[in-house]
Amino acid sequence: MAGPEAALKILCVGGARPNFMKLAPLVRALGQDALFEPVLVHTGQHYDEKMSGQFFRELGMPAPAHNLEVGSASHAQQTGEIMKRFEPVLIEENPAAVVVVGDVNSTVACALVAKKLLYPVVHVEAGLRSFDRSMPEEINRIVTDAISDLLLVTEESAMANLYKEGIPQARVVHVGNLMIDSLYFHLEKAKNSDVISRLGITGAFGLVTLHRPANVDDPEHLAELMRALDWISQDFPLYFPVHPRTRAHLKNGNVGERIHLIDPLGYLDFLCLMFHSSAVFTDSGGIQEETTVLGRPCLTLRENTERPVTIEQGTNTLAGTTYDGIVSAWKQVRANPKIARVPQMWDGHAADRSLAALGSFLKNR
Ligand code: UD1
Repeated sequence: MAGPEAALKILCVGGARPNFMKLAPLVRALGQDALFEPVLVHTGQHYDEKMSGQFFRELGMPAPAHNLEVGSASHAQQTGEIMKRFEPVLIEENPAAVVVVGDVNSTVACALVAKKLLYPVVHVEAGLRSFDRSMPEEINRIVTDAISDLLLVTEESAMANLYKEGIPQARVVHVGNLMIDSLYFHLEKAKNSDVISRLGITGAFGLVTLHRPANVDDPEHLAELMRALDWISQDFPLYFPVHPRTRAHLKNGNVGERIHLIDPLGYLDFLCLMFHSSAVFTDSGGIQEETTVLGRPCLTLRENTERPVTIEQGTNTLAGTTYDGIVSAWKQVRANPKIARVPQMWDGHAADRSLAALGSFLKNR
């Protein structure tokens, strides 16, 4: 009689803050399924307690089996260092598949290493396109998708993008949004956070995040965005947890009196603030999705989005990146808030569908 089959080892790679809330539900589901054995690798692209450690704890993720501790550097140095350090780990672990998520440098670096060693690559959040190749994330997305064996997508637009790029449809599965699994899983707990009183918030408020290189690396451009936010802050005070990249470029003189700069927040505190906010002003990708599910108005301070479903069905509005554009978009949203619909399969069960897709992919290889 044959003994029980060994569980399939799945190497799950995360590196930067937005990866962790996408990985957490997947790692949890893999751990609960006897078919699989998840092994977590942290590249260390983000390493501050407030950008990384805190998220692992709050999301209930196990400590990574491997931490590559690459830290910050130029794109080439960071990507190359991740590749060099990931290769021996991959050979040692010899998994059945490697899962990479999102669009950060860790995603493309580990996908390249795995593919060249002939390991199957699974890309979570595949197919999103801003069609702006000056964004480092867009290059990471295109390269990762081109070499992935199983592409798990969050929205219809991604299916169409991959089809146009000639990716065989048999490799693509629409599973929904793992980040929204995390949102539903933690929302009740997040609502109990004391962040509102800790920050001394007593009435309506807005929330700001900015970290895209195109928005924050040029001080003059950042100053223009801050002027637009200052105008908006006449309506309510704005709370702005500042990403380390942005902190380096923000000059005190540019910050209006009703804009409160605070340290980066943990996942639960940030979720709590989004839930209670009157509006969110951001250049993040994930926040466009979270505000859509929470039904909060979101002004995206960018010229494009790789997540069009948040505009077509959700609460998101593209405001551009000029003072006039942002102010006029806000006037419009304030007068006519959008009525949101939650996109298909953003229902808290994307991890189950991802596991089913992974199981059937590995069985049919
Ligand atoms: C990265 C991702 C971006 C993602 C963002 C989320 C790429 C190309 N970009 O951008 O897609 O939306 O993470 O935050 O992968 N720093 C710290 N502590 C940290 C991490 C970074 O102080 O824990 C500082 C360093 O000065 C570093 C700078 O932030 O130089 C930028 O970090 P980096 O990882 O290069 O890119 P992000 O801007 O965070």
